[in-house]
Amino acid sequence: MNDILNYIESQKDRYLAELTEFLKFPSISSQPEHKPDMVDCGNWLVNHIRSIGFDDVRLIETKGHPIVFASWNGAGEHAPTVLYYGHYDVQPVDPLDLWNSPPFEPFVKDGKIIGRGTADDKGQLFIHVKGIESYFKTHGKPPVNIKFLFEGEEEANESHLDDFIIHNAELLKCDTVMVSDTEWFAPGLPTICYGLRGIAFMEVTVTGPNRDVHSGSFGGGIDNPLNVLCGMVSRLRDNYGRVTIPGFYNDVIELTAEERENYKKLPYNEKEYCEDLEINGVNGEYGFTTLERCWARPTLDLNGIFGGYTGEGNKTIIPSKATAKITMRLVPHQKGEDIAQKAEAYLRSIAPPTVKIDVYAGAGGSPVITPLDNPAMKSAVAALKLAFGKEPVYMREGGSIPVCETFDSVLKSPTILMGFGLPSDNIHSPNENFALENFYGGIKASAIFLDEISRSLR
Ligand code: BES
Ligand code: MN
Ligand code: MN
Repeated sequence: MNDILNYIESQKDRYLAELTEFLKFPSISSQPEHKPDMVDCGNWLVNHIRSIGFDDVRLIETKGHPIVFASWNGAGEHAPTVLYYGHYDVQPVDPLDLWNSPPFEPFVKDGKIIGRGTADDKGQLFIHVKGIESYFKTHGKPPVNIKFLFEGEEEANESHLDDFIIHNAELLKCDTVMVSDTEWFAPGLPTICYGLRGIAFMEVTVTGPNRDVHSGSFGGGIDNPLNVLCGMVSRLRDNYGRVTIPGFYNDVIELTAEERENYKKLPYNEKEYCEDLEINGVNGEYGFTTLERCWARPTLDLNGIFGGYTGEGNKTIIPSKATAKITMRLVPHQKGEDIAQKAEAYLRSIAPPTVKIDVYAGAGGSPVITPLDNPAMKSAVAALKLAFGKEPVYMREGGSIPVCETFDSVLKSPTILMGFGLPSDNIHSPNENFALENFYGGIKASAIFLDEISRSLR
């Protein structure tokens, strides 16, 4: 492996320059005006993958944004196949005025590359493109067969990837799925993630009078939709931080004693955690630690609530409508559809008969847990250890990567979450960044992983 690692060392500047090119596309999947940028970015990726030695590389149209698919079978039919998943779409950039530099003009400062998509997820998916390229360049070819599946809709509301996977299970057949779209527990602490929460979405609108009316003339006489909505929302959780939707916890798998012990060993510092967020303390479901609550317990959060007058000064009205956007983070074995239905039924049941209620509730992605005792997991652990010189730790993640459960259920392949982000990367926030140490180290880990897995799955 030393020749490959030396080669990677010698190519750092080029890798960084290429990543910079990739990051310049404003591939914001949720904003329709960026549709052409999505196609341009997908095409750039296609051409790039072709240039490293893949012959079968395709930009696959969907009803939404295109999928980049590539495969290389030169290791032979007896060699294992690794499928790499990542997403080339990024989150919107607002609020733009909080960025210290333009989000799509990436630049390096203090050992980090700064820009939208650096960590989530262009920088991370590019790690594997470069890790595999290093193998081609130094050994002629990698020791395992490779598939790339890079989507452009992970950050959007609607993804067409599940359908694609279901209809192309044979094309995507593999021995393991590798995903780098998570983060380390702390800087300098290589981490394997073995669980993700799922997500369900809800939007509820309460309608009262057919128009905004004078709050003096009508106040006290009729229900105010904004008051009603706030009352309903406040009844979604009790004083112990538990979600009150009937049946919400029915399918929740409890943490094992071993997991609880392991989480206690992680270098979590509540004081620093609070200082970073400038809050006076943590809070949540009674009886669980912060890490347990964020990783292994389901939650319900308001993402936004609006209605009525929000401009300067007074406007004395009872608004006609009020809306709340809500997400629920789910844990195994909660089912998004089931939870969405239960949530909708509960909201309707607590609404007063004096107002009209419109509810949208739907699943956004299922939770996953990857068993720790499979060979691909062991290869990832070995790769991280060799690349970064430190034994990795295990954690779960509170965020969601919706497609992972589909890999489990359709491809029947375990998903290895070997991410390289850091908690300070500001993903989804202004000044998103990615540590170059993790970028370059990740490329080494990716190359070593190929070597490890070719031996363990042979
Ligand atoms: N890469 C993230 C998931 C993640 C979040 C990993 C935090 C590690 C730490 C992913 O791109 C993401 O943002 N997922 C969304 C999915 C949603 C839009 C359906 C999420 O979790 O909000
Ligand atoms: Mn991501
Ligand atoms: Mn994201």
